[in-house]
Amino acid sequence: MLLSRTICNPFAQLDAGIVATGRQTMSDIFSPERYAETRRPIEHATPLPREVYFSQEWYDREVETIFLKKWLIATREEEIPNPGDYVRIDIIDEPLIILRDGDGEIRALSASCRHRGSELLVGTGNCKKITCPYHAWTYALDGRLLATPSMQDADGFDKSLHELPSVRAETWGGFVFINFDPEATPLLASLGGLVDRLSSYHMEDMVVTKKWENRFNANWKIWVENSREGYHVRTVHRESLDTFYPGAVRTAFKADGEPMVYAINSSDNENGLYVPRNHTLPFVEGLSPEDNETTHFIIAYPHLLLNVPPDRITFHQYFPEGPEWTRITSWCCFPKTTVDRPDFETEVEDKYYPSMDLFLAEDKGVCEIVHRGLRGRLAGVSRYSPSEERTVHEFSNYVLDHVIGPVDS
Ligand code: FES
Ligand SMILES: [Fe+2]
Repeated sequence: MLLSRTICNPFAQLDAGIVATGRQTMSDIFSPERYAETRRPIEHATPLPREVYFSQEWYDREVETIFLKKWLIATREEEIPNPGDYVRIDIIDEPLIILRDGDGEIRALSASCRHRGSELLVGTGNCKKITCPYHAWTYALDGRLLATPSMQDADGFDKSLHELPSVRAETWGGFVFINFDPEATPLLASLGGLVDRLSSYHMEDMVVTKKWENRFNANWKIWVENSREGYHVRTVHRESLDTFYPGAVRTAFKADGEPMVYAINSSDNENGLYVPRNHTLPFVEGLSPEDNETTHFIIAYPHLLLNVPPDRITFHQYFPEGPEWTRITSWCCFPKTTVDRPDFETEVEDKYYPSMDLFLAEDKGVCEIVHRGLRGRLAGVSRYSPSEERTVHEFSNYVLDHVIGPVDS
């Protein structure tokens, strides 16, 4: 069913069965015709309808077709530098242990004991073996079941058949990604030309210096959409950026990339998005003149949201928790050579981190008001700005391609 452009009575949408919420699902929510307006070229396209932000049915399909199929960021390599180092992380309700085994290989193991399911580890740490806190079944760092006290009378019990399940773990640029799909394209191939485009930043030589944890009352797509445009900067970030660039005229981001693989939205540093304005920490050596003067806002679909000014990276690791909540860990990494400077701690605490505190709070706030606004039964969406929201439109179509299938299928 195509949406009528001429509905005068807003409650007619209810009568037409167009509205759905988490409590109210629709039989045709996966009908391709329903999204025909979003599929059009951006000059004519309509944003995604409100129900895809609230429907549990739609969310479940996103998990199945996107999050259980694609490469997802789990951690950074430097978080687990030594054999036995681990981090416990929940990704789409799956408890995982990301660890470095005795051979230095990074693995992503289930954190659920094969006896009666207890969570095996919490937090971060180092271990030589993984021993269950419940009845002390013990596993090797490669997941093999080594010891099972008092199981000698269990007829036919074979330890070798009960190792911890694992999912794929691969690395690039110091990032550790996992993938639940054993058939998925290898990580590097899935990143396309982004690997070469960012090689001069030497992200593999950067280290984590700060993390921010947030939980937003907003659908995960609202966070991604907000990250894809500079349209909101002149309003949402007006006060914070004006403290660094008073009166700056902020222009639209330039867009580059490979469709449905990655997008780079770029802004001149003097456009007001590089902070602090008069940097005191060094830029990465060997960048092109363009990269030296530019901050890039990157998405590698679907999970890597990476901001790259010339001196560091920040990335936002988002984890949907149902259709209405999103947990977000934001990470800041600097080159190790910068971190080793005697003035590093003072400089970042005084000049760099406070701006990130501000931007994160402003973006969190705006995502939550969008979510609340879309909740209303009278809520509706109209059109994109072609000059400002090209990558938002592409992202919307990425979601549609996966949840309801490509246009030409
Ligand atoms: S649940 Fe782990 S040993 Fe029993
Ligand atoms: Fe923002």
